[in-house]
Formats: sequence, C-alpha cells, structure tokens
Amino acid sequence: MGALVSLEGGDRSGKSTQVRLLKAHLESRKVPHVLLREPGSTAVGEVLRRLLLHSGPDGMEPLTELFLFAAARAQLVREVIRPCLARGLLVVVDRYLDSTVAYQGYGLGINLEIVRTVNRWATDGVVPEITILFDADPAGTLDARDDGGAPDRIEARGLAYHRRVREGYLDCAAREPERIRVIDATAEVMEVHRQVREHLEPLLAQVSGT
Ligand code: TYD
Repeated sequence: MGALVSLEGGDRSGKSTQVRLLKAHLESRKVPHVLLREPGSTAVGEVLRRLLLHSGPDGMEPLTELFLFAAARAQLVREVIRPCLARGLLVVVDRYLDSTVAYQGYGLGINLEIVRTVNRWATDGVVPEITILFDADPAGTLDARDDGGAPDRIEARGLAYHRRVREGYLDCAAREPERIRVIDATAEVMEVHRQVREHLEPLLAQVSGT
C-alpha cells in the first residue's frame, strides 16, 4: 500500500512553490510517487475545474459549488488515487477534502455537517495520512500575485472571505492535530521546505522501503 499526502493553504500562500520543491525532492530521493491537483487531474475533473474557476456562468449557488468540487474529488479518488495507492505509490494531492471544509464550509457558510457528509461520500473514506497546511494571514498574501494574471473566481472573493477560509483551516487542524501539520508559510522558502520534508520523511521512507 502507498500513502496519501495532501497539501493545503489559502490562495497565494506559497503552496505552488512548495509543491515544486517537494516534487524535486521526491525525484532526487527516487520515491515512487504521483502528484495530483484538485480540482482536476482527471479528464472529468479538469472540465469541472474550468467551470468552477475560470469559465463558469455567473450565479453559481454555494451548494452547486460544493457538489461540483465533490464531484471532481469522487472522480479522482476512484479513477486515480485508489489505483495509485494500490500500486504502492506516494500520492501527493495539491488540495483535498480540507479545502472544501475551509472554502465552502467556513468561506461560504454551508453547514459543516453537510460539507463533511458530502466529503465522506466523495472520498469514500480515503483520508490522507498527513496533511501539510501552509498557514498565512491572507491580508499579507492576497495582493502578492506571482503570475501577473487576473484572479480566478474564488481568489476574487476578497479579504473577509479568505480570512474565514484561514480560520476554517486552523479549526480543522485543531480538530485533527495528528493528521494536519501547520507550517508558518511566511517563513523563508527553504525553511518551509525543510519543515515539509521533516513532516513527510517517515512516509517517504515507508513508501520507498528505505
Ligand atoms: P488553484 O489555481 O489550484 O489555486 P491554488 O494555486 O491556490 O491551489 O485553484 C484552486 C481554487 O479552488 C482555490 O481558490 C481553492 C478552491 N477550492 C475550493 O474552493 N474548494 C475545494 O474543495 C478545492 C479543492 C479548491
């Protein structure tokens, strides 16, 4: 059996840079792995991603948004994550079920019991062994665009929304401190990366059999 790791954090928390650094580390350490992103990483999921983030019509209801993220996840778990775990791979997913609790539960105010129930259906009980949460105050990060592009539909929701997202993540971490490891994302890039490696090392050793 492989192992599942998820990476979480607010928009512009520096998560993408850390994903790249982790990928390079896994390659140099020759850990058999696959790197996925949510929503996406399946043909169905990528269509849902466009609808959710870029080219969807206006006026999407919060519950519709919840179901579409969950639909992308249901597809990814069954089409990719489960088979990869069965092959013994380390599966790293950039965003997973805690994103939905933070963004649709705390951010949009959907009842958390509903969000958790939908998450359980979508994941069918496939929960990460370790989740890294890149934590940062959105007041300090939201303006710092690294690609120069226009914000997507969810990034554009403003500071109050993103503060609720952060609070949601921290509540998730307080509920499950063993699984969710909080890292201060405002620390220096290589220091953040060092902490990611430290948290994941036992799993890397387990998957590569070293
Ligand atoms: P992405 O471009 O991947 O953002 P980032 O680089 O910050 O990870 O876009 C994913 C967006 O979708 C991000 O704003 C968070 C949001 N999202 C949800 O609102 N709910 C979810 O369940 C997931 C997986 C993502």
